[in-house]
Amino acid sequence: MNKLYFGDNLEVMREMDDQRVDLICTDPPFNSGRDYNAFLTDSLAQSKAFTDTWTWDDPAQDARADIERRARASDTYKALHNCLRGYDLVLQNAVSGNKGSMRAYLAFMAPRLAEMHRILKDTGSIYLHCDPTASHYLKGIMDAIWDQDNRSKNECFRNEIVWCYRGGGVPKKDFSRKHDIIFRYTKTDNITFNVDDVRQPYSEESQERLKYKARAFRGDRVYDNYNMNEKGKHPEDWWVMQPVMPSSKERLGYPTQKPRALYERMIKASSNEGDLVMDPFSGCGTTIDAAHTLNRFWIGIDLIPFSIDKPS
Ligand SMILES: C[S@@+](CC[C@H](N)C(=O)[O-])C[C@H]1O[C@@H](n2cnc3c(N)ncnc32)[C@H](O)[C@@H]1O
Repeated sequence: MNKLYFGDNLEVMREMDDQRVDLICTDPPFNSGRDYNAFLTDSLAQSKAFTDTWTWDDPAQDARADIERRARASDTYKALHNCLRGYDLVLQNAVSGNKGSMRAYLAFMAPRLAEMHRILKDTGSIYLHCDPTASHYLKGIMDAIWDQDNRSKNECFRNEIVWCYRGGGVPKKDFSRKHDIIFRYTKTDNITFNVDDVRQPYSEESQERLKYKARAFRGDRVYDNYNMNEKGKHPEDWWVMQPVMPSSKERLGYPTQKPRALYERMIKASSNEGDLVMDPFSGCGTTIDAAHTLNRFWIGIDLIPFSIDKPS
C-alpha cells in the first residue's frame, strides 16, 4: 500500500479514485522566489532546476485555460475559476513582476488543491504548509474548494497554525520573518482529532495562571474548565519548533527539509494507525518518514528523482 511516485503530482492524483486518503500533509513550493540550486552540489544542480520562481508563461496560461474548461462540468472547478478571476482583479491581470508571478503560482496550486480535495475522504483532514508570501491567496482558494461541501456553515476551515522558529539572517528594515503558516481543513465534522496524543507540557507560567484561576473561580462551574489535564495542555495553534539545523541528526541536506516533529504532530492528531497519509510534494520524505514511524500507510509524490536521495 505504501507508494512513492516520481512525477507531476497533478497527473498522479488525477489517476486516483475519489475519497482514497485519510490525511494529506503537504509542503508545496511557496513562491519564495528562491533558487535552491545554489544549495545543491554541482552534479545535482545539473540534473534539474529546483527553483521556486514563477512566471506568467505558456504553461501558466494553459493551466488557467484548463481550469476554465473543467469549470463547465465541475462545481469545484467553477468555484476555483471564479476565485482566480477575482484574484486576477486584485493582481491587476499582471503578466510580469511579482503580481504576474503570483498569478502563475496560483494557477499551478489551484488544480492540485482541487484534486487533493477530491481524493480526501469525507472523514479526512488536510494540512497545507505555506508562508506569508501566498498564504492569504491560498486560504481563499481552499475556502472556494472546501466550502463546496458545506456552503451554509463554513466549518471546513479548522485552524491556521503558525509554526514559529529561530535562526537565519536578520533583515535591515523589517522584523525578522520567523514563521510559516499551516492551514488545516476538513470536509465534515466527522473527523479524527486525537488531542490526547498531541497535548503539550504546561509551562510554569500557565501552571501559575491555572492555579490563580482555580482560586478565583472556586465553587463556580468555570473552575472545572481550568483544571489541569494530567496528559498535558490542550495544544494551541502556534507551535514553536526548531527548523532542521546544519547540525541536526535528521538533516539530509535537502534544501527545504522540514522537521519531522512538525509532521508527526499533524499525523498523530489527525489520523490513526493503519490510516493512509499522503504528501503530494514529498521532498526528501519528512511526511512519509513520520507516517511510517507512526504505523500509518503512506503515498509520497515528487517531481525530482533526487528527492529520495541525499545530495553528496
Ligand atoms: C518545499 S519542498 C517539500 C519539502 C518536504 N516537506 C521535506 O521536508 O523534504 C516542495 C517539493 O515539491 C516538489 N514539487 C514541485 N512541483 C511538483 C509537482 N508538480 N509534482 C510533484 N512534486 C513537486 C519539489 O521537487 C520539492 O521537493
